[in-house]
Amino acid sequence: MSIGIIGGSGLNSFAGLRIREQLEVMTDWGRPSAPLYCGALGNTEVVFLARHGVNHQLPPHLINYRANIAALCSQGVKAIYAVNVVGGIHGEMGPGDLVIPDQLVDYTWGRDHTYSDNADRPLQHIDFTFPYDDSLRDRLLQAAIACGARVHAEAVYGATQGPRLETAAEIGRMANDGCDIVGMTGMPEAALARELQIPYACLALVVNMAAGLSDQLISQTQIESMMTGSMPLVCKVLTRALANPQH
Ligand code: HPA
Repeated sequence: MSIGIIGGSGLNSFAGLRIREQLEVMTDWGRPSAPLYCGALGNTEVVFLARHGVNHQLPPHLINYRANIAALCSQGVKAIYAVNVVGGIHGEMGPGDLVIPDQLVDYTWGRDHTYSDNADRPLQHIDFTFPYDDSLRDRLLQAAIACGARVHAEAVYGATQGPRLETAAEIGRMANDGCDIVGMTGMPEAALARELQIPYACLALVVNMAAGLSDQLISQTQIESMMTGSMPLVCKVLTRALANPQH
């Protein structure tokens, strides 16, 4: 059985993945964002999916999250590691840091967020008390420590609608709500994985301080240069997390 990796902004392909097959999959919910790249990372079978599409053409609110998770499920993945870039809200979670959230708050709206949406399918009220899988989180943490990353073992991920960034007041409100990091793609992905009973964890890379928390406006150039600079570390951490055979 293989492991699914969902790459976010800055991670549209995975260095080191020996691709054996590129699959165009169709699901009951439509096409996923990109072909599935099936191959091996070290000795682990991996199915990689670029969340925003191969050319990073899909904005967060137009991603077909249901098709993405269903496509990975169709390949029998037994776990999903999701990579997300985020803004830091917590004062200690700054650009370049890795964060492994243990909780989330969902501020997104209007996205197709469940598989329980018609009378032919069972209505599921999934337990989502703990949205991320602790054993995958622990693997990520151990791998990040071994790679010498600055890593935060717990955090609350606030998922916003985007594609615009937030106002300073919105970030103030999110901080009051207990959010430590903010991103646009963490939901409904995590909940859909839970609906299909696939253990799921998020490896977040902080690429900027969230709106109003530094004396500068947030620039796309800064975000992109952080992504380019730090994605090799993200790949290294994932490769190491997957190297442990006992998934
Ligand atoms: N807000 C929301 N999503 C993000 C941010 C941010 O500041 N940075 C990267 N993704």
